[in-house]
Amino acid sequence: MSTSETSSALLQVDGLVRNFGALRVTDSVSLRVADRELHAIIGPNGAGKTTLVNQISGELSPHAGRIVFNGVDVTTLKVQQRARAGLLRSFQITSVFERFTVLENAALAALGTREHGFRFWQPLMKRRDLVEAAEQALTATGLEAKADTPVEAIGYGERRQLELAMALASKPKFLLLDEPMAGMSPQESAVVVELLKSLKQRYGILLIEHDMDAVFALADTISVLVNGRILLQGPPSEIRDHPEVRAVYLGEEGVDSEEGVL
Ligand SMILES: Nc1ncnc2c1ncn2[C@@H]1O[C@H](COP(=O)(O)OP(=O)(O)OP(=O)(O)O)[C@@H](O)[C@H]1O
Ligand SMILES: [Mg+2]
Repeated sequence: MSTSETSSALLQVDGLVRNFGALRVTDSVSLRVADRELHAIIGPNGAGKTTLVNQISGELSPHAGRIVFNGVDVTTLKVQQRARAGLLRSFQITSVFERFTVLENAALAALGTREHGFRFWQPLMKRRDLVEAAEQALTATGLEAKADTPVEAIGYGERRQLELAMALASKPKFLLLDEPMAGMSPQESAVVVELLKSLKQRYGILLIEHDMDAVFALADTISVLVNGRILLQGPPSEIRDHPEVRAVYLGEEGVDSEEGVL
């Protein structure tokens, strides 16, 4: 990495280490992601990708190393503090309120990073700033037609789009996305690829994804994580042509991510 890349990094991870018992799951991981850069992490099941994201989002503490976001060392900050600084993880489906509408859920997400939780439901939808942020997020994710539909009545792909919308409603600077296309149909995945193409014009993005077509269509930089270590890091052209990556990730036609190879 050149000095200029280092100084312009929006997210900077240095020498991150995390163990689970005797198992070192994150082994001296370093990476930089600039504003409006999409950095993809690929690697086999169990490589430590989600564990890495959990440390960057603040859900898990590293045992060594540091995380600098937007020039601030956030290594010891809580999830909500990082979110308020603009470092947002796409919401998990469990944090969605099933009976509330798509728009209400997005507005709630918008509130989440602006204030410490909420006490009363009623005033939420009277907050013009929150509703506007929520509406913009639904438009950006193609969900505006579902705004008034309760979440329990929308489809699986739409739920995953809602997770993204909720992250966007929170006014992020940076998006952490752990397999946003998991379980989607090819058509739904294609919608998300297009969406991410437009989002990367505005945000830094760290994307974990098993869908190699999506990764190579979207990534500016790819890190290959194996056994908690970064095996390779570089632009897609370099990664694609690397013999080891070809053998493991691209060599076999019809390799199914659910078979555990990717
Ligand atoms: N809370 C935990 N306690 C103990 N071991 C854990 C814990 N979380 C993850 N691990 C282990 O850490 C390793 C990395 O898991 P992780 O979920 O980060 O992998 P991953 O690369 O995200 O895999 P996948 O592609 O399947 O999502 C695995 O061996 C896993 O069993
Ligand atoms: Mg994972």
